[in-house]
Amino acid sequence: MLFEKVALVTGGCGDLGNAMALHLGRAGAHVVVWDLKTDDEAVEDVRCFLDEEGGAIMYQRVDVSDRTQVESALDDIMAQLGRLDIACVNAGIVEAQPFLEITQENWQKHLDVNLTGAFNTAQSVARKMVDSKTEGRIIFTSSWVGAIPWPEITPYTVSKAGLNMLMKQMARELAPYGVRVNAVAPGIVKAGLAGKQLETEPQYAARVARVIPLSEPGTPEEVAEAVVYLASPQAAYITGTVLTIDGGCSLFQFDKA
Ligand SMILES: NC(=O)c1ccc[n+]([C@@H]2O[C@H](COP(=O)([O-])OP(=O)(O)OC[C@H]3O[C@@H](n4cnc5c(N)ncnc54)[C@H](O)[C@@H]3O)[C@@H](O)[C@H]2O)c1
Repeated sequence: MLFEKVALVTGGCGDLGNAMALHLGRAGAHVVVWDLKTDDEAVEDVRCFLDEEGGAIMYQRVDVSDRTQVESALDDIMAQLGRLDIACVNAGIVEAQPFLEITQENWQKHLDVNLTGAFNTAQSVARKMVDSKTEGRIIFTSSWVGAIPWPEITPYTVSKAGLNMLMKQMARELAPYGVRVNAVAPGIVKAGLAGKQLETEPQYAARVARVIPLSEPGTPEEVAEAVVYLASPQAAYITGTVLTIDGGCSLFQFDKA
């Protein structure tokens, strides 16, 4: 389905990004993974290397909050692979702090990685796509909490709300070039950032048990399949959309009887 396409996944050593890389690879794409690990560490982490079904993978160590690194890595992709068709703008962080205790540093770090990092990646990718006349796909990883406040992660929720508007702005302005821009909004996934919170924050686990109408946390694979769909020819008429994969979390909450 995605044969001959080149797909970039930022934060691709993490749980959701890794599943995206694997599923895009299985759909036939050549996948480029960006993350903060050294090359050696990444080989351990990028489990797609080990999966015979996965497509070819290239790893680049890139901090998305550093514009120079982002642009230079993209130049390398164009030089080595000749094209870029799909970008999953997925790298992200969360560090919980109650609102009254949020430090300036915590606030700034979320904005630097989750929002400015996404802008750095998405704008640089979009320029390459437009320059090369590629009707590409840019897919952000937002979150259901980009629209619904969740306790103790204000800088994170604000960064994801900003990401949703960045996506919509880009969708509007890039439509004339045929570049489609969308977001997936996972709910609570028992992996990655939420997985760590489930393990380390008892109050988080207690809240989670109450708020998922479909009862179970999601999986990275469910998010990755949604990404593959948005990257596919079947989604060609979709742009400017947040595709929510949250087991109903963002519905109005009733107490479960
Ligand atoms: N896990 C969930 O429940 C959940 C729910 C909704 C949204 N999300 C979003 O999914 C995305 C992936 O998160 P995950 O859950 O897989 O967590 P994760 O921690 O497993 O993966 C995040 C990856 O991003 C990388 N990263 C962090 N800062 C970076 C930077 N400056 N430059 C490059 N890479 C960087 C990390 O090294 C890590 O490998 C995030 O944007 C997150 O907000 C996750």
